[in-house]
Parts: sequence; structure tokens; C-alpha cells
Amino acid sequence: PVKFKPVTWREVEDGCARIAEQVLSKGIKVDVIVGVLRGGWIPARLLSDYLGTPVMGALEIKFYRGIGETSERPVVTQPLIADIRDKVVLVVDDVADTGKTFNMAVSFLSHYGPRRILTAALYLKPWSMYRPDFYAEETDAWIIFPWDKAETVEELVKKRGLTLEEAARITGEDLGFLK
Ligand code: PRP
Ligand code: MG
Repeated sequence: PVKFKPVTWREVEDGCARIAEQVLSKGIKVDVIVGVLRGGWIPARLLSDYLGTPVMGALEIKFYRGIGETSERPVVTQPLIADIRDKVVLVVDDVADTGKTFNMAVSFLSHYGPRRILTAALYLKPWSMYRPDFYAEETDAWIIFPWDKAETVEELVKKRGLTLEEAARITGEDLGFLK
């Protein structure tokens, strides 16, 4: 059975603040923040704020089809448009699970001549083959982020036969709007 960990907006902010502290305490000046769409975008935006780095880019990588179900490999479905040549880049995602998405992101971005690529994830799974340079917390649970509650509820109802109430309880709070 899957263990779920619902995460609040406040925990997202606290996690990003911890990552920002780690980056700043090392005296690193980030030139460009690249959010891995979709899950990495909101943490990336928060880190842009906390690190005082206004330049952002986005890279879309898709891997998961459902809770714990992946396609064969992660695929870059939208390339990066921002210029990262000779720049210090911080790649941000919400979670490193197998770590394959980060591997893909780093190898993709390395072709564009960055000075340095650093990586950050809010959450890290203990079994990940990729350890980001910065992360807020390690967990082995399936994380439910504030930005993917509705899709998690839908999957729990449609694929696993839970009632809407049971599914909403698992994801935490605030799901009245789904009825
Ligand atoms: C999820 C998550 C990470 C990735 C982590 O993205 O947002 O990007 O999987 O998994 P990995 O370490 O095993 O590669 P997903 O493919 O579900 O797309 P999304 O961000 O658009 O939801
Ligand atoms: Mg993702």
C-alpha cells in the first residue's frame, strides 16, 4: 500500500526557504533558475524570490502517468528557451524519486554551455539515483503537493475506487470545490 504525505503551502514555503539558506550560506550567486515543469515551477518561483534571482527559464519533462507508474523514461516535452551560456544555473524540481528526471534535466542543459549546474528539490526519496545539491527533506512517502491534489483525488477515485470523501481525506484539506 502506498504511504501518502500531503504537504501544505506553508511547508512548501518553509522547504524553499531552507533550500535558499543552504545556497546563500555557500556564497553561491545563481544567475538563472530553471523550473522543471510542471511540478518544479512553483518552488522555482519561490526560490527566484528568496534568492533574489529574477531570471527564470522552464524545461518540461514528463515521466509519471499515475501514482507510482512511470513511462519507460522521462522525456523532454518542452525545451529551454532562456540563455544559460556561461551562467550559474539552479535547476529546481518538486521531488527526486527515481532521480531520472534530474539526470535528464542535467544532461539536457549541459549541452547549452552553462558555467555550473546546481540542482534543488523540495523532497528527496532515499532510493533516488540522483542526489540534488540542495533539498529540504527526505521521505519515502508518495507526496501530495498543493498543486496536484485534484489530480491525485481523481486518480484515487477513478483508478482505485475510493470515495471522493476518502480520497479528499488522504490529500489533506480544502477539496470541497471538487464536488
Ligand atoms: C514528477 C515530479 C518530478 C519527477 C520525479 O513529474 O514532478 O519532476 O516526476 O520523478 P523521478 O525522480 O522518478 O524522475 P511528472 O513526470 O509527474 O510531471 P509533472 O511535473 O508535470 O507532474
Ligand atoms: Mg515533474
